[in-house]
Amino acid sequence: MQDRHISRRAMLIGAGATAAWAASPARALLQQVAEIPLPADVAALPGRMTVEEKAGQLTLMAAAWAGGAAVSLNPAGAAGSFDQQLADVRAGRLTGVFNGNGTAMAKAMQTAAMRQGRLKIPLLFAADIIHGFRTVFPMPLAEAASFDPELARRTARAAGTEAAAAGIDWTFAPMVDIARDQRWGRGVEGAGEDVLLGRIMADARVRGFQGTRGLAAPDAVASCAKHFAAYGAAEAGLDYNTVDVSERTLREVYFPPFEAAFAAGSPTTMASFNELSGIPATANEWLLTQVLRREWGFGGLVVSDYTGDEELIAHGFAADAREATKLAFMAGVDMSMQSGFYLKHLPTLVAAGEVPMARVDEAVRRVLALKVALGLFDDPFRRIDPRREKTQIRTRAHLDLAREAGVRSIVMLKNDGGLLPLPRAGKRIALIGPFARGQHDLIGPWNVYGTDAEAVDLLTGMQAAVADRTAITVVDGSGIDAPLPGGIQAAVAAAQAADVVVLAIGETQRMSGEAQSRTAIVVPPAQMALAEAVAATGKPVVVLLRNGRALALEGAVLAAPAILVTWFLGSQMGPAIADVLFGRESPSARLPVSFPHATGQQPYHYAHKTTGRPNPPGAPQEYKTHYQEVPNDALFPFGHGLTYGRIAYAGLETGGGTLAAGGTLTVRATVTNSGTRAADEVVQLYVQDVTASITRPVRELKAFRRVRVPAGASQVVEFTLRRSDLTFIGRDLKPIVEPGRFRLWIAPSAQAEGVAGEFTLA
Ligand code: NOJ
Repeated sequence: MQDRHISRRAMLIGAGATAAWAASPARALLQQVAEIPLPADVAALPGRMTVEEKAGQLTLMAAAWAGGAAVSLNPAGAAGSFDQQLADVRAGRLTGVFNGNGTAMAKAMQTAAMRQGRLKIPLLFAADIIHGFRTVFPMPLAEAASFDPELARRTARAAGTEAAAAGIDWTFAPMVDIARDQRWGRGVEGAGEDVLLGRIMADARVRGFQGTRGLAAPDAVASCAKHFAAYGAAEAGLDYNTVDVSERTLREVYFPPFEAAFAAGSPTTMASFNELSGIPATANEWLLTQVLRREWGFGGLVVSDYTGDEELIAHGFAADAREATKLAFMAGVDMSMQSGFYLKHLPTLVAAGEVPMARVDEAVRRVLALKVALGLFDDPFRRIDPRREKTQIRTRAHLDLAREAGVRSIVMLKNDGGLLPLPRAGKRIALIGPFARGQHDLIGPWNVYGTDAEAVDLLTGMQAAVADRTAITVVDGSGIDAPLPGGIQAAVAAAQAADVVVLAIGETQRMSGEAQSRTAIVVPPAQMALAEAVAATGKPVVVLLRNGRALALEGAVLAAPAILVTWFLGSQMGPAIADVLFGRESPSARLPVSFPHATGQQPYHYAHKTTGRPNPPGAPQEYKTHYQEVPNDALFPFGHGLTYGRIAYAGLETGGGTLAAGGTLTVRATVTNSGTRAADEVVQLYVQDVTASITRPVRELKAFRRVRVPAGASQVVEFTLRRSDLTFIGRDLKPIVEPGRFRLWIAPSAQAEGVAGEFTLA
């Protein structure tokens, strides 16, 4: 049986699919921007350009429009004035700008390029469209919790449509970094800890941004898979920090989502800020040329991250700006973002014979090819249409999609005694907490164009859902980081007067995102004090967590009978939460990151190894692998999430138990919903390679399906495993499959038993 919500392509990537790229048709699928035939007049351009104009094509700057607001999203940089930027455009010193604003700016700049530029090369307008444009969708991590790639494709399509209507050609997304340390704040921008989920979401998002009609379509935006590579492996979860991982882990964990993004047609990638085992990614020839281009055949464009080339000096890798330019450029970074280094130093490096003109021409050709692919040489104004900018933004359809996506991203961690859903009438509700109301912390980090002011808050969403809005009493109770005078007393009084408490607590949107690392991934102490006081009233408490990462839950928060993870859900945050809270929809999302017992377990991911001294199930034993204070495993594991159904797994069939060479193995389980509500269950297939020439994780997700199980019904869920699903990176750092014994689970999470069995790979 197939779930109609999963596209054929997503299923291909899921079960049986590693085949699609392990056998390397990926190479053939890769978007070869470099091979797009350039029209004769474009192909002739490099021959007519000065070396300064070529360096200009390789120079991207934050837009200076509106006083340089774009720069405020990054560390202060040389934004200059808009007039200066127009002068640069006319003189051919700029390939384009990013995080600018709207068609008015784009029109002014493009007109300068096309009317007054010597060579009339259209500009490229880029932006960080991470999870929506003016309609804001759930943060990518939240959306990954949907385990619904088709949803991710649709939200990326909507975001791409809005952005393209406002003059944007190129988005710096998707972020496809695997994040296994929740102290790192940027996990919120990606799809979490798992490789398969990361690959599937990368694929879906690229296809969504780019659409199906080719990059030249006026509503398509080109993707940029970032940050290449292993940015999420920062030591101690500290953003920008050193990364030292084995080549095997790079190839097995950190590279696959990039390969998926390229296979889906992402024509660009962004070099990451971090160093990689001693060599910064931005100057890493092995990474950017050997692997990316020679091995994978990537023909697209590599852009630096914001001042990534300049930062080679601070890394202690380049002595000065000139050397930084040479190192980044020769390693394979085609375009420099924001430092202006290429413009300044490439001409002299070429003159001195230190950078060959052929390398400059190659990079310029890639930029021109991208502009050709985007249709900009045919019509430089194709995405600059003030009428579309007005009519295609925050449409009803997009706002409805934001609500749907919000609903599908909410994870129910607990629901003791069936406290949820709450009835719409007949109960007095105390809505307590710093996130209960107000236009803040709704859309999440990394939104350039959406605003909290345009989003719907929790109180408004809840008021619209209940029969009588006076049944809701709202009290802040606490600040986010500090107590409010009299806050706890007011909260306790409200709780005492109510039948049920809804407690909205957690992180602000500035606690995750870029440069926002935390050493304690907990609900801040002032809010914990509020939670303890409210719990002491004895009233049933529903915790609504607002968060950009997995949190270590404790005390009254963990003890609450019901907990919903509500992340940052975007424009329709309040209505989406109300839909789940009051049972209009059943929760159906699953954790894309494991919630640990304690921060000290970080980095943690479910697909860890056993060690030579695994602690047997049960109490810690002497000289076995365990912590003194907390269990080794997750508090709430990857894949966990409850529904309003009552789901049980039974009836594992392993299709004879042998996967023959060249064959497939079809495995099945029966999922039964004995509850009274229909539920969307995310059924997960995990495998463990019991003995191998390279030690293997305790479990690895190989496929998943979202299936709708009506109340009282059973569904048989089937997965087909292929040999290629069992590939790992062998001793010679090449993919390998080894015959032998495998354990398998069809289960509701990475830690649940579900139904378990074994098979043999012949
Ligand atoms: C720095 C971030 O690392 C990157 O993700 C983003 O695209 C650039 N700034 C541009 O804003």
